Amino acid sequence: MKKERILSGMRPSGKLHLGNYLGALSDWVKQQEKYECFFMIADWHALTDRTDTRQIHQDTQDMLIDWLAAGLSPQESTLFLQSQIPEHAELHLILSMITPVSWLERCPTYKEKLEIGQENNYGLLGYPVLQTADILMYKASKVPVGEDQLPHLELSREIARRFNYLYGNIFPEPEPLRYDAVKVLGLDGKKKMSKSYSNEIALSEEPRLIEKKVLGMFTDPRKIYLKDPGHPEECNVYSYHRIFGPSWGKDLDGIFQDCREGRLPCTRCKKDLAQVLIKALAPFRERRKELEANPSELEKILAEGKKAASEVARATSDEVRKAMHISSAQG
Ligand code: TRP
Repeated sequence: MKKERILSGMRPSGKLHLGNYLGALSDWVKQQEKYECFFMIADWHALTDRTDTRQIHQDTQDMLIDWLAAGLSPQESTLFLQSQIPEHAELHLILSMITPVSWLERCPTYKEKLEIGQENNYGLLGYPVLQTADILMYKASKVPVGEDQLPHLELSREIARRFNYLYGNIFPEPEPLRYDAVKVLGLDGKKKMSKSYSNEIALSEEPRLIEKKVLGMFTDPRKIYLKDPGHPEECNVYSYHRIFGPSWGKDLDGIFQDCREGRLPCTRCKKDLAQVLIKALAPFRERRKELEANPSELEKILAEGKKAASEVARATSDEVRKAMHISSAQG
């Protein structure tokens, strides 16, 4: 039986961190078994938040390396770069003709960007239209996304419906495939993990830095002396232990009890967590080193992805043009 197709994308933000892995990437890796997957580096979308584009190539490479290190497989999935498939820009243009501005203006992500002072340009408003083009191009039936992207997907469905109504039934309405993901707070224990808050641990973080960062984490502020009872259920360090498992041969309940009953110094608890993380991230670090030393491998992977994505994109472009009585762009 043919596998259902899914597509998802990430804006190239450089090296990925634990939050990206636990919150999205680890889920993508799992989906590879079940679905025919298209995973896209959304470098055009990245242009909506920067005018200085000098870093974009490096960010793209870094993200691809982390994808591969995390287990996305070019043999199983199509891994490609958005800007290498110009049909996305074409479909974006076509879909923009049938998308009322009011739909875009009420989009929560757009409103948030304006609130934080981002320039109100045409591309920012059209961000979800480009995203819709990404999805519809491959006729993906499902899109793995986090909560913040649900309004975009709602728009994608509305745009698909409108296109189908006007020009014939070409596009499936894409459904969200909610992540089966683990939420991890940043090292500050206050906000989600993000480079922009400088509270992240990179997947390829050096052991020395992991240790330094973990030792700087806040623990339960009510626990001042060792014998003070701690409140592990409110402690960010404990929440990391819960995700990664304890290293000292005790079960989580043991850590919980020892903390509660004033037998576990916070420093020891953090040192242990650092060791756990250093061990858990070792394969990422090693794989990154191998891939960094082999840029031609990365080029090859993107070239193969481009070929596979192009084939589908050309066919969709042709179908759309035919449905709209626009002449074909092919040969
Ligand atoms: N907007 C998505 C994000 O910021 C990235 C993205 C671009 C995407 N195109 C997509 C996600 C298509 C899913 C499908 O995370």
